[in-house]
Amino acid sequence: MSLTHTGTTLWHHARIASLHGNEPWGWLEDGAMLTREAHIVWCGPRSKLPAEHTHSITREVDLDGALVTPGLVDCHTHLVYGGDRAAEFEMRLQGASYAQIAQAGGGIRSSVAATRAASEATLLASATRRARSLIAEGVTTIEIKSGYGLSLENEARCLHVARTLGERLPLSVRTTYLGAHAVPPEFSGRNDDYVDAVCAWMPELHSRGLVDAVDAFCETIGFTPAQTRRVFEAARALGLPVKLHAEQLSDQGGAALAAEFGALSCDHLEHLSEAGIRAMQAAGTVAVLLPGAYYFLRETKLPPIDALRAHGVPMAIATDHNPGTSPGLSMLLMLNMACTLFRLTPEEALRGATVHGARALGLHDRGTLAAGQRADFCVWDLDHPRELAYWFGHNPCRRTIVGGLERTL
Ligand code: NIG
Ligand code: FE
Repeated sequence: MSLTHTGTTLWHHARIASLHGNEPWGWLEDGAMLTREAHIVWCGPRSKLPAEHTHSITREVDLDGALVTPGLVDCHTHLVYGGDRAAEFEMRLQGASYAQIAQAGGGIRSSVAATRAASEATLLASATRRARSLIAEGVTTIEIKSGYGLSLENEARCLHVARTLGERLPLSVRTTYLGAHAVPPEFSGRNDDYVDAVCAWMPELHSRGLVDAVDAFCETIGFTPAQTRRVFEAARALGLPVKLHAEQLSDQGGAALAAEFGALSCDHLEHLSEAGIRAMQAAGTVAVLLPGAYYFLRETKLPPIDALRAHGVPMAIATDHNPGTSPGLSMLLMLNMACTLFRLTPEEALRGATVHGARALGLHDRGTLAAGQRADFCVWDLDHPRELAYWFGHNPCRRTIVGGLERTL
């Protein structure tokens, strides 16, 4: 592994799905890329490499005709938590619904109890193992939400673990404060008081450098639109962008509310209305689709994919990794399920797992391979990018470059 940058590198003899420009896949048959430090200086057909760049090349890497894509972005995870919910999975298989289990005090609240009982070292160790699984399949940027601590110090602990992952692993981490995930037992029956607390903790967490964005679970078993609005107002007062778990189990009008606050993304969206789609389109809000949760909850109502496509709302794909509704750690499986379950095209799925995922995090410096973008890319043992959504249960990732540096685990 080269641990330091070595001037300007020419990566050549590659078949590049750059996702840049108007060609399908941004395809470059005999592609090449120049990287300097953490960024791409130039990307295009090898024959068009500008002469002024050739003298600055200090290293050449022959990629042997392999497929290259942007690094994958997992823009929605709940990676830091204690315990698991396999027993709840068995209950659901015997007929109990996710909502019934939550209303009986299980669900998110059982993970809150396990998370509070775990040491920070234990939380870091388990989250590190999970992050390594994602990394092995080419994930270079990940979002991590809090939401299993639900007190100031426990939320801070989980967000701190997320930050630590970003420092220790070759991976970009973006953190999201999801205090409004569930009402913890000490606030039982006092939901509005709990929302006050979530808002009151926000400036402290922000001042500790732990928060990049703010999320909430707007749902009958979560928080009302009015309570969600208060959380968003607190975020706006701090200049923090918002996202929302919206219309997962019912239509709460959450997407339109989030769009009013210029939300980066609305996520899940199985019950999204036409009005919600229009509001998202007008606000430039990304639709984050989560086929893992749809699959694992054995949901039957599909998100309105055709309408999102017709209105030009960008669609991202993410794992939603969490112990309750999506205990999966494979972005490639999400690409496959986005196609088989949601009928995205393989190209839409790859764009969803790269450029649109980056936009859902407010990141404009990654997700395509073009001059000025971060040098985050994957080299695959595949012939065509459509195969990323085709194979499942198999990892064809040969190597990953993060910020211009070769990544090893
Ligand atoms: O994205 N819907 C709320 N949050 C998670 C589930 C969390 C849990 O059940 O622990 C989700 O599906
Ligand atoms: Fe989620």
